[in-house]
Amino acid sequence: MILIKLGGSVITDKSEYRKFNKDTVSRLADEIRRSGQEVIIVHGAGSFGHVVSKQFNLQRGYEGDSQIPAMARVMCDTRELSSMVIEELLARDIPAVSVPIGSCFVADKGQLIIENEEPLRRLVDLGVMPVMFGDVITDRSTRFSIVSGDQVMEHLCRMFNPSKVIFVSDIDGLYDRNPKTDKAARMIGTVTKKKMDEIAMESDVDDVTGGGRNKMEAMLRMTDEHRPCYLVNGNAPNRLYSLLKGETVTCTVAKGGLQ
Ligand code: IPE
Repeated sequence: MILIKLGGSVITDKSEYRKFNKDTVSRLADEIRRSGQEVIIVHGAGSFGHVVSKQFNLQRGYEGDSQIPAMARVMCDTRELSSMVIEELLARDIPAVSVPIGSCFVADKGQLIIENEEPLRRLVDLGVMPVMFGDVITDRSTRFSIVSGDQVMEHLCRMFNPSKVIFVSDIDGLYDRNPKTDKAARMIGTVTKKKMDEIAMESDVDDVTGGGRNKMEAMLRMTDEHRPCYLVNGNAPNRLYSLLKGETVTCTVAKGGLQ
């Protein structure tokens, strides 16, 4: 099984509130289906989550009642995004079901807690793909918190022990500087813990879950000596397909764990 995160930067336009990149998601769904691989998908929230979350400081947890309607708004928007992703998968005969994290799980201090894995395991046993996503969720300490799709990936990685993990983003791979604003930026083919520490990475769009460096750390945490984790550009047609088929493509591969 292969675990894939479709980043919010590729499935939405992060600079425009609630803009879904339908054509891109449709193509990526097709690439997944054509690969014939057994896959589980997590997706980010993109402009369906970050815009309102930032406006109302939802990443800080509960600070006042004025945040509550915003929390409900974000949860409505992320569900709508997820439904649109599911529609594209169903259109390719991939039986996928949206599983909002807050529907059966809770968080504590921003950390997702999955005490009952049974619903997820049963879906997978049935041959149904559970699709989870970054979202606002109730929290035992901060009353609510934002949990990123990357965190969900880590849980699913522990639960399902995938052979590879793939992050689909809007860049070719990891760079030593921001490739969108700095022409001197160079792509890094292989990331290890040592290399990671040397990289000063910035994200060019503010987001409430920490940007590129956190995502790379999360990637490394999901690797071990047998399992690589890739960052690949989903805007380049067939790159995800080739990676799923085990071919060599332009991407960054993380290896060797975080130790
Ligand atoms: C963010 O999830 C969740 C919210 C802001 C509600 P992610 O961190 O996984 O989303 P992307 O991939 O960065 O858009």
